[in-house]
Amino acid sequence: MEIIHVSAECYPVAKAGGLGDVVGALPKYQNQLGHTAKVVMPMYRTKFLYENQFEVVHKGAFGMSNYWLDYTIIKETTNYLGFDLYLVDIYNLLDREKIYGYDDDTERFTAFQIAIVDWLSKWEHRPDVIHVHDHHAALIPFMMQNCFAYRHLSSIPTVLTIHNAQYQGWISWDKSSLIPEWDKWKWGQLDWDKTINPLACGVRCASKVTTVSPGYLQELQYNANGLEKLFEYERGKCSGILNGIDEDVWDPATDPLIKTEFGIADAATGKQSNKKILCDEFSLDINKPLIVFIGRLVGEKAADLLPQAIMDAISNGEGSVNFLVLGSGDPAVESQLEQMNSHFMGYYNSQIGYNEKLSHQMYAGADFLLMPSRVEPCGLNQMYAMRYGTIPIVRRTGGLKDTVKDFGEDGGYGICFDNATVWDITYSVHRAVELYSQRKRVTEIINTIMQIDFSWENSAGKYIQVYEYIN
Ligand code: ADP
Ligand code: GLC
Repeated sequence: MEIIHVSAECYPVAKAGGLGDVVGALPKYQNQLGHTAKVVMPMYRTKFLYENQFEVVHKGAFGMSNYWLDYTIIKETTNYLGFDLYLVDIYNLLDREKIYGYDDDTERFTAFQIAIVDWLSKWEHRPDVIHVHDHHAALIPFMMQNCFAYRHLSSIPTVLTIHNAQYQGWISWDKSSLIPEWDKWKWGQLDWDKTINPLACGVRCASKVTTVSPGYLQELQYNANGLEKLFEYERGKCSGILNGIDEDVWDPATDPLIKTEFGIADAATGKQSNKKILCDEFSLDINKPLIVFIGRLVGEKAADLLPQAIMDAISNGEGSVNFLVLGSGDPAVESQLEQMNSHFMGYYNSQIGYNEKLSHQMYAGADFLLMPSRVEPCGLNQMYAMRYGTIPIVRRTGGLKDTVKDFGEDGGYGICFDNATVWDITYSVHRAVELYSQRKRVTEIINTIMQIDFSWENSAGKYIQVYEYIN
């Protein structure tokens, strides 16, 4: 099958979070199953662009509101990512360093989607499926069905994968002319609560919808940032497929980004050596358990609870634990976390920003990884942590509930709690400190979690079944 993935992110080209990891891995595993999966994304001005070779494969133009925009599609020539990578360049819109966060993101991602549909409309053959990811690409199924210039694409099946329904890409109706001329009778497919809602529109128009874990699909029916009714209504076309991890990138035995590589047999010494690097660099105590947080400092991740929870855990436990935080996001949380560096020196440290190398070192060197998320559609961090022998401490939600079982339960191996509150976090930290003192149990758990199969093979095949169903 020929599968075209459309996404705003794809690792290692451009990544802000787990979406990038998934789109950088899933196509590769689909190709290994004998299919032809390709990725199309914006041509941001990231390092990847300057370090690789590309060729121009198409040039075109389209109208958007009162502008006529030229676009160029370039293709990476070596296929070293394990799939064909196409980048869409649009002057003055996509040619930026960052992925998101600009005032004209609506115009940027709408133009990106129009360029793709316009390019597809020029193809001499028909791909088997267009697989769009999140709201940045979710208007594509609508455009293929209802924009007059592109309606001949309407017979191509489409799949929308929802990585996070908190973000829906809302566009006010006074910008509706951004979308190429469309059948006005179909306005109801675009609208949700008097706003153009690309994610809702994608759910309505895609042939099939998937979420990145089965647990999250259940949750969307009562917690979907306003779209609960829609998910209840469209339940029949939705399925939950758990993400995997890319073992070419995330394997402690071969990871070039960590100080000491290790496998299951030498996990104890390997992890200790990696912990030492972190403790030396961040002035932490190697003899105490090290709990880390890695991620976006936003409400969904309950990052706002971290400062108080960490202060309480250090004070109540009389300093029997170390914390290290890596993340960026809400400026107020960033500044609180940074200010704590000097107050809790020796017990706590933080690195504000995005740092891929340090994140790998932290998965490798930590004893525990904390994820108190309020919303977690899948969560990759806990899976990476387990692969690197780091015990997850998670709130039971979405994909976290699907992947982590409390060590108090039969066959359990993680620490789970129910509420995103400071108290639940500090209580779980207390359980972690106690567990840490039982070395034999910790060794058994590390042995278990490093062997859990989170590989992509299985899930990549499940997506193929979805495509086959609609073909
Ligand atoms: P989300 O996509 O919601 O942010 P995931 O758990 O799916 O959450 O994936 C997060 C990904 O982003 C992981 O690969 C994680 O290591 C990475 N990540 C998040 N924040 C940072 C950071 N500040 N520095 C480095 N990597 C980060
Ligand atoms: C989103 C979700 C995260 C998920 C990732 C990859 O960013 O927040 O839970 O793991 O997408 O699917």
